[in-house]
Amino acid sequence: MASILVLNGPNLNLLGSREPDQYGHRSLNEIMEELDRFAGSCGHELRHVQNNSEGGLVEAIQKAANDGVDYIIFNPAAYTHTSIALRDALLAVDIPFVEVHLSAVAAREPFRHVSYFSDIALGVISGFHGEGYMLALQVIVNQEEP
Ligand code: DQA
Repeated sequence: MASILVLNGPNLNLLGSREPDQYGHRSLNEIMEELDRFAGSCGHELRHVQNNSEGGLVEAIQKAANDGVDYIIFNPAAYTHTSIALRDALLAVDIPFVEVHLSAVAAREPFRHVSYFSDIALGVISGFHGEGYMLALQVIVNQEEP
């Protein structure tokens, strides 16, 4: 059984009401409940953190290492495009992670085309709204199979 942290950055607590054309109509809780069911059916355990501050996300990544987390599913939200501190935290703990974006970031404003994470992630899933988290979890489940 793998321990998997689902880490969500700023403004993702507003999913459902926030720009639904970009991010879909489901709330973060609705998406995470579906993800929990899928993880449970595969025998894996999820932990969830959503934090609106960069420092809070750094602390969650450091704590993940102390707690023996095996994988992170990470949507850094706006920090995707700015945060050396979060990149350094992930490099420091060396926990494999999948980068997820609900919107199709490559089809949006040029500043969203830059990610401080993609080159150190297992891979990137973008543009499938909440389903992207399920796809990320499927990748991890496949890696865990003998
Ligand atoms: C996002 C894309 C980011 O550019 C944006 O700042 C977000 C959410 C996404 O899930 O599509 O807050 O990470």
